[in-house]
Amino acid sequence: MLKLYVTTRTGKRIAIESEPRRSVMEVMRHENIDEVLALCGGCRSCGTCHVHIDPAMMGSMPPMSSDEDELLEKSLHRTPYSRLSCQIPFNEKVDGLRLTIAQEGSK
Ligand code: FES
Repeated sequence: MLKLYVTTRTGKRIAIESEPRRSVMEVMRHENIDEVLALCGGCRSCGTCHVHIDPAMMGSMPPMSSDEDELLEKSLHRTPYSRLSCQIPFNEKVDGLRLTIAQEGSK
């Protein structure tokens, strides 16, 4: 089992143990974390799965596509640690990942 540590928008901390899944977004949805709307189902078109990655773990992240970059650019809450959680495969490379769900709001 792999571990994922989520901080919600209200500061609640949730520790999750999960089998590998297609994405970090899917792990959070499976745990019924409803702040992650994931309206597009993971096809990189809604931006409602936006998270901030622990800076110490940015080196474990897969490269960002131009589509993801453009979508994140529309958020008022983009930081250097922003990623779409639907674009991060949940596997042993990100075991122990810590993230915070980004606030909502677009430009
Ligand atoms: S779920 Fe829509 S962009 Fe990630």
